[in-house]
Amino acid sequence: MTSSEPLNESQQNGGKVTGNLVLAASMAVIGSNFQFGYNTGVINAPQQVIEKFYNETYESRYGSFIPLTTLDLLWGFTVAVFAVGGMVGSLCASWAAGKFGLKRSMLYNNILAVCAALLMGLSKLAGSFEMLIIGRFIIGVNSGINMGVAPMYLTETAPVSKRGVFGTLGQLGVVSSLLISQVLGLQWVLGTDALWPLLLALTAAFSVFQVLIIPFCPDSPRYTLLVTKDEDKARQDLQWLREKDYDVTEEIEQMKEEHKDDDVAKTSFRELITNPSLYRPLIIAIVMQLSQQLSGINAVFYYSTDIFLEAGIPPLYTGVATVGMGVVNVIMTLVSISLIERAGRRVLHLVGLGGMCASAAVLAVLLNLQRTSAVSWLTLAFILIFVVFFQTGPGAIPWFITAELFDQASRPTAVSIAGLFNWLGNFAVGLAYPPIASAIGGYTFVIFAVFLAFFWIFTFFKVPETKGRSIAEITALFSGEPAMHYTKSTML
Ligand code: GLC
Repeated sequence: MTSSEPLNESQQNGGKVTGNLVLAASMAVIGSNFQFGYNTGVINAPQQVIEKFYNETYESRYGSFIPLTTLDLLWGFTVAVFAVGGMVGSLCASWAAGKFGLKRSMLYNNILAVCAALLMGLSKLAGSFEMLIIGRFIIGVNSGINMGVAPMYLTETAPVSKRGVFGTLGQLGVVSSLLISQVLGLQWVLGTDALWPLLLALTAAFSVFQVLIIPFCPDSPRYTLLVTKDEDKARQDLQWLREKDYDVTEEIEQMKEEHKDDDVAKTSFRELITNPSLYRPLIIAIVMQLSQQLSGINAVFYYSTDIFLEAGIPPLYTGVATVGMGVVNVIMTLVSISLIERAGRRVLHLVGLGGMCASAAVLAVLLNLQRTSAVSWLTLAFILIFVVFFQTGPGAIPWFITAELFDQASRPTAVSIAGLFNWLGNFAVGLAYPPIASAIGGYTFVIFAVFLAFFWIFTFFKVPETKGRSIAEITALFSGEPAMHYTKSTML
């Protein structure tokens, strides 16, 4: 295509959403994002039955039950070891992406998922809670790799005008699988003495799905073009992802624009933290990830039952309320998908953080009022509002904006580092919430409100809009040089 030819609408938008693109995205979302969401939620509901297994195993070995405080610690460790694995996995994501590419990283990562599923699923039969804990750690590593690699795959294969939608699809995968795990974990489904091992082992089903679909999907054409340097293959794969009559030349040129130097050698960690055109977006990516976790969302997701009981919700309704929260989570992610390319990342993130900050302040007050039935239900309503605002922006955007802020050479390392901070925040909130909440009760939400106010100010002053911009244009915002290659649709 010559530059004088007018671009048709699809060409201007970087192509339409095709069946092949949807297949490739589903492979990544169900095969990778589902592992993270499912294992985030899966052990909350069956906590008591699994603790019973810990107790019985201990008794059969040592002749007495586990002291209560040790059991609490052991349980806390079982929950948190997932995030420790996540940190390790996040650091491995960059290495795996560089060595194997995105497609094979996802494929090989299933070996970890299957090992973890076997360890967790057979732990009861083997009478070993250690196997369950090691399994949780391994599925954490798998999820850390997945949450680095899958958002890159989604961002790199989507047309420019749909990058936000595809990035948010990743979060839809997380919240849908979280809901599936909450429902399956209920005591009248699989959350029973006999069936909880199956509940944990079911995570292997997502691997089976991915392994079956992945042979039909290409690697990211960006990786093939810029890293393995096979332009013909990259063109062919990109054409497969786009419509038949779509001319991929423009997009291939845009990708080349991402690196004007000869080689896309992976940017080193040292370069990332010393080069201003790289550390500025890195700080933004890290703060965005922290804004997601230090908002307190996982205090709500991990400890909803405790919070509902504290608020005076009758025990009979806490399970239903938790599932209700999961439903709101999914619905709001769908709303966010429909808004992301119109409103943009910045606005949605600001609205989300602002709304969460206000809801956290109200919750701090409500949790300190005398319990009446009205106060209890109002507290539940504000917890749901807190989740609504979370999914407006902070739920999805931090996971994919990192991939948008960096070019091919720096993306994997930056995604790994930013992801590490997400897992650190997740770990810190998961571990610190129970002791802080028992010391200061509802005032814990004041801490979240303060964090949220800080993140709102940071986003307002520092985070640029990435909607509709090519990666070359976005990285040019930080290097101070104008990007050379603009398409009509990506001009702001
Ligand atoms: C995001 C967060 C995750 C959280 C989930 C809740 O994906 O990364 O930690 O549990 O949203 O919807």
